[in-house]
Amino acid sequence: MIVKNIVFIPFLLLITGINVNADFKITDSVFDFSVATFQLANKNNANFIMSPVSAQLILALTYDGASGATADAMNIGLDLVGQTQAQATNDFSALISSLMQLSGNTTLNIANRIYLNNTFQIAPAFQADASQLQASVATIDFADASNAANAINAWASEETNGNIQGVVQANQFNSNTAMVLVNAINFEGVWKFQFDPKSTYASSFYTDLKTSQQILMMNNQASFNYGSIPQLDATALQMIYMDPTVSMLLLLPNARDGLSNMVENLLGKLVLKHN
Ligand SMILES: *[C@@H]1O[C@H](CO)[C@@H](O)[C@H](O)[C@H]1NC(C)=O
Ligand SMILES: *[C@@H]1O[C@H](CO)[C@@H](O)[C@H](O)[C@H]1NC(C)=O
Repeated sequence: MIVKNIVFIPFLLLITGINVNADFKITDSVFDFSVATFQLANKNNANFIMSPVSAQLILALTYDGASGATADAMNIGLDLVGQTQAQATNDFSALISSLMQLSGNTTLNIANRIYLNNTFQIAPAFQADASQLQASVATIDFADASNAANAINAWASEETNGNIQGVVQANQFNSNTAMVLVNAINFEGVWKFQFDPKSTYASSFYTDLKTSQQILMMNNQASFNYGSIPQLDATALQMIYMDPTVSMLLLLPNARDGLSNMVENLLGKLVLKHN
């Protein structure tokens, strides 16, 4: 399916009820970070798909190992204000554990690893924190770029049932590379209410007020959570997977030219509140 100007909203997983510290919800932080990252990435106006929570998870591990001004800046950048490094690690650890326990034809593989050039040594305490975040730290020789790329790609492929090949390329590394943060995420789910391929038909999809193209559309009749979000001038549809704790949330601007307005007004809170 090739469609211009469709925005894939990055909230594949709607996680509720994870609240390790009484006055701080890691889910708020995930949604705020996701929306802010998505808005930044959307600035170049192209179609894209992204998983901000992946970046947040591997950066959370990096934050755990940071100190001084770097740690302070990462605390703000990761929307973890008020959280100590130990609290953040605990919260993300709880989040990852909950994501790994999906049932019924729904699988999520999240693989996080920090690769350090082999001139550095890994502190044992940091290895322990990494395993709490179901991540690992490894050393590699980045000066041998093609070997490093092959090793990282082999690791990502293995962690994602072979579904993700080639996350990195050799030309991204050289003898100045000190550290690389890698996250690979693989989601496979079966819709609770499946689409019948026989109900596919061609219809007009508008990319702006006047321009449309004919594309193949699917349709389905079932009971879905559906709502209007006036602050975004948009309509939301939640489609659950076989594991009903996982859903895809689709946001459709009400106006044909309402996409950029909707994206600009998006806020983590607004999305969370409507779940
Ligand atoms: C879900 O998984 C089970 C067991 O692996 C399989 O028998 C079943 O066909 C799957 N259902 C769907 C809708 O894919
Ligand atoms: C990485 O390690 C190689 C030797 O294995 C060394 O030549 C290179 O300078 C190191 N790079 C950094 C950034 O430490």
